[in-house]
Amino acid sequence: MKKVNLVFGTVYGSAQFTAETLAQALSQRGYLVKLWQTDEIASFTPPADELLVVVTSTTGQGDLPEDIQPWFYHLKNTAPYLPELYYSVIALGDSSYETFCGAGKAIDALLGELGAKAVVNRFDIDACQTMEPEVEALKWLEHWDQVIRSAAD
Ligand SMILES: Cc1cc2nc3c(=O)[nH]c(=O)nc-3n(C[C@H](O)[C@H](O)[C@H](O)COP(=O)(O)O)c2cc1C
Repeated sequence: MKKVNLVFGTVYGSAQFTAETLAQALSQRGYLVKLWQTDEIASFTPPADELLVVVTSTTGQGDLPEDIQPWFYHLKNTAPYLPELYYSVIALGDSSYETFCGAGKAIDALLGELGAKAVVNRFDIDACQTMEPEVEALKWLEHWDQVIRSAAD
């Protein structure tokens, strides 16, 4: 079964809790999961033969949470070419901001620039619609898992 690197960026903990919930559900589905803690990811370049899932909230005016910034700038500055990497982004945000899910959009765009391929479209979770992003993420996982398994067939 594939290995999944799970990276999160959070200010108040919702994205972290969502990532922890996903990590558990992925393990139950048989994936090998590495949930990266934010103090470990500053120089992490995702290996091409493993899957990458990013869960991030947005802060300020469309800004990345501080804890995921070192990783974002590591990738931006080293600009590895990652055409064989398959990734997914779950973006937590609030649609009352004009910069809705700005951080998730920035990470999605950066990974695309590096040549990585999205397994499914970015999944935006709106705090105006739900207070339980982890529940939405688990529904998303059903679909994601099907896509991964059908690609492996
Ligand atoms: C000070 C502040 C600024 C925010 N700025 C944005 C923003 O620009 N765009 C957006 O979509 N959501 C924004 N949000 C909403 C958060 O991204 C959303 O509530 C998210 O679920 C928080 O997740 P976290 O607990 O992981 O930080 C902001 C929230 C706060 C408190």
